[in-house]
Amino acid sequence: MHSCGSILVVDDEALSRLILHDLLSSEGYNVLAADDAFVGLKALRQTRVDLVITDLMMPRMSGMDFLKAVRAQDQDMPVVMITAYPSIDVAVKVMKEGASDFITKPFNCDHVRLVIRRAMEKGMLERQGRALAENEDGGGIIKRINRNLEEKINELSALYAISETLHHPATTAELFEKVVDIASSITEAEKVGLWLLETGGSRIALRAAKGMEGLLEKRFTLAEAGLAGEAISQKRHILSQDYKTCICGGSGTYIKHPFLCAPILIGDRVFAALQLCQKIGGGEFTGDDVSIITSLAQKVSMKMENLALYENLMENLFQSITALVRAIDARDNYTMNHGKRDTLYAVKLAGCLGCPEEVLDAFRFAGPIHDVGKIGVRDGILLKPGFLEPDERDIMKSHTTIGNEIIRPLNLGPLEYAVVRSHHERFDGMGYPDGLKGADIPLVARIFSVIDTYDAMTSNRPYRTARSHEEAIAELMRCRGTQFDGDVVDVFVKHGICKEEVQAA
Ligand SMILES: [Fe+2]
Repeated sequence: MHSCGSILVVDDEALSRLILHDLLSSEGYNVLAADDAFVGLKALRQTRVDLVITDLMMPRMSGMDFLKAVRAQDQDMPVVMITAYPSIDVAVKVMKEGASDFITKPFNCDHVRLVIRRAMEKGMLERQGRALAENEDGGGIIKRINRNLEEKINELSALYAISETLHHPATTAELFEKVVDIASSITEAEKVGLWLLETGGSRIALRAAKGMEGLLEKRFTLAEAGLAGEAISQKRHILSQDYKTCICGGSGTYIKHPFLCAPILIGDRVFAALQLCQKIGGGEFTGDDVSIITSLAQKVSMKMENLALYENLMENLFQSITALVRAIDARDNYTMNHGKRDTLYAVKLAGCLGCPEEVLDAFRFAGPIHDVGKIGVRDGILLKPGFLEPDERDIMKSHTTIGNEIIRPLNLGPLEYAVVRSHHERFDGMGYPDGLKGADIPLVARIFSVIDTYDAMTSNRPYRTARSHEEAIAELMRCRGTQFDGDVVDVFVKHGICKEEVQAA
């Protein structure tokens, strides 16, 4: 095999030397190994080497001192540092001392390949630059350097675009769509798919796709998934220019195409794979495509880890809050299902008012938990049969601000917060907790105020029995313009929204 260059690996751990030797030899590099920095320095004096990889922690001479000694011998030699304890401090220190890059233990093979390839290219450019400075007739070299620089700039632009684009998605579903879009536009692949490995690890399902939408949500065993299945089970990218088989046909059939698939890992566990087939114009996937798609897979994995943690956290928080609401229902029979009915009324009334879908969604989320702050109101007040004393009323009123505090960590939109905090504001400014007036009260809260009061009036309470629908409507009409937004009351009445309808839903 033609050698892509010579690499010296210096590491006191035999297993690390062995892994790097096998990995880099299979990539076409000629690999020398030394178990100690002194042996490494001797090898460097005797043999021509293009790149050095060294462990940071070694017994007789540290990797940092070895790096300085290598620099003293050859100032252009690219040196990649291995560290088992990655931290910003170590990275900065290592780079300041002139290392080209660093890799971490345990090794991620794709990452090692990428780092070594880049360090090799960087070393080559630096050597060419030096040769140019020493050679008057450097026209050919200049052209080559310019071409290399242009390629580097393109690659860096693509990586920058990836980082920027992946910064925004808020959910895993959005992230998957973005990734497929980026992969397709950067590599010009016509068929791009993101496979998600299902729990148990034996099947994959297509979660986002471009040019192979017919397979969305279809499930395959790893064996059925062809090369994508291989990339997942072998935890390495697969580039096939010799037209092997893969799944990307409209009905899940095997079709022959140039193919690239990179697994997406969190730690050592594969959870997804990005598959690309068939370039526009029939070209083949290049080494740059591989490098960019591998980088993309790494960035996705970091973003996924954050999103998964975040979504998990949000789900847990929401479940806790729902449990709190159930606890209030259990304490107060009178309010049982009140949140559920309020949600149905609010969604119905908002629809009649022509509100956009985001308002309806805010009610669907915040409606059931709008009184969650009542968890902070003691039974003696919450369940008191009869009117509340002024100080007791103040405590009861605090359920709006307590509720707001409880849902604060959920990072919701302003509409949801407005439902929980402001559903007891009055149109005339005499409500609580903020005494907002008229149009200063968010519309969602003005809507919720009407339907919340209607439901309270038509339900049995500790201090009185339920009023009829007609009586409740008469009270809403009496208070239109004072307690309630008159326009909202009018639409509620005009559309004949009533308890029977909601109870039947
Ligand atoms: Fe309330």
